Amino acid sequence: MIINVDLKHTDYNIYIERGNLAKAGELFNLNRKVLIVTDSGVPKEYAECVASQCKAGFIETVVQGEESKSIEVYEKLLKKMLEAGFTRKDAVVAVGGGVCGDLAGFVASSFMRGVDFYNIPTTVLSQVDSSIGGKVAVNLGGIKNIVGAFYQPKAVLIDPETLKTLPQRQVSAGLAEAVKMAVNFDKELFEKIEASENPMDMIDEIIAGSLLIKKRVVEEDEKESGLRKVLNFGHTVGHAIESVAEGGLYHGECVALGMLAVCEKEVKERVLKVLESLKLPTSFKAEKARLSEAVSHDKKAGASTVTVIISDKIGTFKMQEESLDELSERMEQFYL
Ligand SMILES: NC(=O)c1ccc[n+]([C@@H]2O[C@H](COP(=O)([O-])OP(=O)(O)OC[C@H]3O[C@@H](n4cnc5c(N)ncnc54)[C@H](O)[C@@H]3O)[C@@H](O)[C@H]2O)c1
Repeated sequence: MIINVDLKHTDYNIYIERGNLAKAGELFNLNRKVLIVTDSGVPKEYAECVASQCKAGFIETVVQGEESKSIEVYEKLLKKMLEAGFTRKDAVVAVGGGVCGDLAGFVASSFMRGVDFYNIPTTVLSQVDSSIGGKVAVNLGGIKNIVGAFYQPKAVLIDPETLKTLPQRQVSAGLAEAVKMAVNFDKELFEKIEASENPMDMIDEIIAGSLLIKKRVVEEDEKESGLRKVLNFGHTVGHAIESVAEGGLYHGECVALGMLAVCEKEVKERVLKVLESLKLPTSFKAEKARLSEAVSHDKKAGASTVTVIISDKIGTFKMQEESLDELSERMEQFYL
């Protein structure tokens, strides 16, 4: 399956097919120097498979985990390109999850003011969400994604076979992002996930369905001035839980919990069941003061309210401004 993302200034294809990792050389222009960015948790065969299809492939393996989305690692990769004599006509490929994609994309966006970037996402989260849309970034001073760019890939290759090696907990965390999109935009997809005994049996459909949603949203609002904000559904409370949990929970797990705070009663009951079936956490407890303090960080400086995406009916959403007190009430279920 090919999905075309059509933006005002560019367009690119997402190729989704089992086994297409071996076709990277046909789908991408790898007939040049290519920096392949992967991490230590991604089976090395994936990057090697891509390297074998390049004229000159240079594999750089960063340490797995969020810490690699740093200025230091970013600099190391740029230096590697300099040393290897990369020019503006060469390319960067990410082979891994959202960490590799965000990092490699930012390297590609800035080396010689931008070289071609290809993304090969290998986690559920990156296949359903982060690999398209062009947000690339690293973290700085403890703040996530604070240094980055909007830089669209030249193409994206998704091989669902690569998910076979992904730990179950990572699979579930990624599926939370797919549920997030279905709740707001696609009743049919949500109902299919709801009815499925094992959503991994329909993972190809979930990936395609999620990407079609994200494509629509990004095509309408590339730089997140309006509709794209809906993709942050569950994220305000989710981010607060993520920071209070201090690394104990994955991002997708926090989004799952965060969604529960912004679904109205009937939707919440259905979402809760789906999250349980996906083996995602549905309860969390922390001190009220810590959660309230953490949630206030999502508030823009000077503003007294936060934009919250609410789901009152599967397949649609409401966007409303809420005060910190109102948000605090929504989080009641998480207080000790
Ligand atoms: N750019 C965007 O639009 C966007 C959207 C959402 C999230 N993100 C970012 O994505 C990142 C999270 O991405 P993630 O959840 O993919 O995490 P990740 O990239 O850290 O990958 C999770 C773990 O899975 C391992 N892994 C990856 N592929 C594997 C495979 N096929 N088999 C076995 N292990 C594998 C990795 O080594 C890592 O340890 C965060 O930094 C977040 O900020 C970006």
